[in-house]
Amino acid sequence: MEKKAELIKGKAKSIYETDDPGFLIMEFRNDTSAFDGGKIEQLDRKGMVNNKFNNFIMQKLEAAGVPTQLDSLLSDTESVVKNLDMIPVECVIRNVATGSLCKRLPVEDGIDLVPPTFEFFLKDDALHDPMINDYHIRTFGWASDEEVAAMKVLTFKVNDVLKKLFADAGMILVDYKLEFGRYKGEVVLGDEFSPDGCRLWDAETRAKLDKDRFRQGLGGVVEAYEEVAHRLGVQLN
Ligand code: TYD
Repeated sequence: MEKKAELIKGKAKSIYETDDPGFLIMEFRNDTSAFDGGKIEQLDRKGMVNNKFNNFIMQKLEAAGVPTQLDSLLSDTESVVKNLDMIPVECVIRNVATGSLCKRLPVEDGIDLVPPTFEFFLKDDALHDPMINDYHIRTFGWASDEEVAAMKVLTFKVNDVLKKLFADAGMILVDYKLEFGRYKGEVVLGDEFSPDGCRLWDAETRAKLDKDRFRQGLGGVVEAYEEVAHRLGVQLN
């Protein structure tokens, strides 16, 4: 498969066209950003770790019956993915209260959320990804009602699979963000799943093992990602 022009340069990944219109190449860069791009750093090895981590998680999800964008691992930092028509919303599930939820609502940081909450955000950097609901999605035509229903079902299914996967490796899946796209009439999990887009805490100490280490300047960001990968049995080298 031939790598062609760069189609999209996101904050941490680049998407390239290939000689096959049905497939793209997703490159995981070392760039790490937070606060809508207000803080950006290059973290050595992060692209490789996230690429392999994402590959591992997407394979687990496929095996559990969640259709994903992933096709195959191409190199240390690149994967071949299906060319989806992306839906411009983000789906967030929270199992434990923290982050923006505790700023927005009178909720104590660290409490278990039973049942977990589900939120939609619009993918719009200029507007700082505002929170939206099903009615906004319908009125503005960002997705059909069937697609909204499918995104909810799949995001909760991912929660069932990954909560257990991380719990078995001594971690709490606190919250995470997913993005979906359309592929041959089906709603498919797109983008990535890595510690850049979720919160993971050590089950015993509640130490942060995700991008909050970067947001909060705690250091040891990639080391924490590698620790998560190691605990799950992700092959990094
Ligand atoms: P949230 O608490 O809403 O945001 P913040 O990180 O600003 O406190 O985030 C909930 C989870 O979803 C968290 O794991 C980060 C992830 N997320 C993203 O990766 N990108 C996003 O644009 C949003 C809204 C959330």
